[in-house]
Amino acid sequence: MQQQETAILDRYGLLGYPVGHSKSPIIHRLFAEQTDQAMSYELVEVRPEKLDDMVRAFQRNGGRGLNVTVPHKADVTRLVDELSEAASIAGAVNTLDMRDNHIVGHNTDGIGLVRDLTQNWQFDIAGKRILIFGAGGAAQGIIAPLFEHEPALITIANRTVAKADALANHFGTLGNVNATRFADIRDGSEPYDLVINATSAGLGGEDAPFPRAAVSNRHTACYDLSYSLNTTPFIVWAQKVDAQRTRSGWGMLLEQAAEPLRLWRGVMPDTHAVIKRLPVN
Ligand code: ATR
Repeated sequence: MQQQETAILDRYGLLGYPVGHSKSPIIHRLFAEQTDQAMSYELVEVRPEKLDDMVRAFQRNGGRGLNVTVPHKADVTRLVDELSEAASIAGAVNTLDMRDNHIVGHNTDGIGLVRDLTQNWQFDIAGKRILIFGAGGAAQGIIAPLFEHEPALITIANRTVAKADALANHFGTLGNVNATRFADIRDGSEPYDLVINATSAGLGGEDAPFPRAAVSNRHTACYDLSYSLNTTPFIVWAQKVDAQRTRSGWGMLLEQAAEPLRLWRGVMPDTHAVIKRLPVN
């Protein structure tokens, strides 16, 4: 009888709750095809109370790496043996690299944003005035990577201004950063070059609370960390207030997914070729 050869695929996946809507399996399948990697990528849906058991079981059963999403990005830091500098500054992990009973936690969100901004969108961060809407985990993960490119100023605006203040204090040693309320962004002040949306405002169908004065007519570029099959509420708003140009988070999603492949397997996929095969908006 002829022996059938079974290809052994290295196991990777996305850990979150819920994860059903995720585009990561499609993206990683396209990356693996393009770079010729023998790997599988699965969705690992796990509630917070089962997080530790699931991560350990995944590793025991041949798991080589995981991406991590909501709500586990902060909690998973307690399970790693080593934290990268980016993950440590962000206080959150979105990638686990598992080797020989040793787990390293990385955070590729910031590098994903910076690569998409600078390489794919040709936005030069140096010397620019940047306004970030939001002061949650998403905002926290992008501030240090943006400062590496020496913007003139980062202003953090948040509904709960105390959270914006806390982030501004936390990152104050890295560069010129301040905090504000939405209502205090008024006409007449020096315009921002870039507005980044790091809130989930509007995603539930409510009116977007962003102040008109944040965008200077045809000067300010607007970037949404969120992505959607439809135009996101922030981009709808940005177009209405005459932003110079707009971009949603698809490019960042691809870049922050490409970096784990480099960390896990030492290969860097061509994100341009892959984005053309996604239903991006
Ligand atoms: P994430 O990890 O994605 O950043 P988060 O920590 O829950 O998620 O943060 C969500 C962000 O969206 C916060 O800045 C939140 O503002 P608050 O800190 O005031 O809660 C912001 N946000 C969510 N819904 C909003 C709304 N309807 N209007 C204004 N800001 C909103």
